[in-house]
Amino acid sequence: MAKIVGISGSLTQPSRTKVLVEEIVASASKKLHAPAEIIDIAQIAEVLGSTISYSNFPAELSEAYAKLQAADLLIIASPVYKASYAGLLKHFFDLLDPKALVGKVAILAATGGSDQHALVVDYQLRTLASFFSIYTTPTAIYAKDTEFTDYQLTSDAIHKRVEIAVEQAVFLLKQEEPQTLVA
Ligand SMILES: Cc1cc2nc3c(=O)[nH]c(=O)nc-3n(C[C@H](O)[C@H](O)[C@H](O)COP(=O)(O)O)c2cc1C
Repeated sequence: MAKIVGISGSLTQPSRTKVLVEEIVASASKKLHAPAEIIDIAQIAEVLGSTISYSNFPAELSEAYAKLQAADLLIIASPVYKASYAGLLKHFFDLLDPKALVGKVAILAATGGSDQHALVVDYQLRTLASFFSIYTTPTAIYAKDTEFTDYQLTSDAIHKRVEIAVEQAVFLLKQEEPQTLVA
């Protein structure tokens, strides 16, 4: 049975990004009849920020990386901060073994205040996923603050994109993985 793990890169609580991750994770979990967990960067922010070594990780980080490695489907989401994805989310991936996620499938998502940075998810998160040899769904999800009301996702258009991205992920999960060149 496929395992699903979502990662929310926001530093705040409550968080629209986390709400979006929960939405995608719930949809995928229902479709795949699979268990799901969420890694919330806000909850490990202090320990993550003070970790600079590639080994001897603190327990919270080792547990998060173990969850990621055991997953088949990842939901990787970040708020846009200063025209990019969150720096601490990058640090989380910077500390990770480049071979750890080879062949996994991911749905990419971001939240932001404006239209201007919607392509962060395609130009930045997708290149990060490619580095790790992750297969990403062609449909990515970008939700603006106006698409939430009181930290609830209230946009039908985003709900539809979530449904489409999950269907694409189910398709990718059925494929047999070819040989992959790891960076
Ligand atoms: C430090 C900071 C920088 C931000 N920079 C941008 C930005 O460059 N472009 C944008 O569209 N939104 C920007 N935003 C808005 C957030 O991306 C947006 O409010 C997002 O929904 C926050 O997600 P969260 O509720 O999960 O924290 C910024 C917010 C913060 C706190």
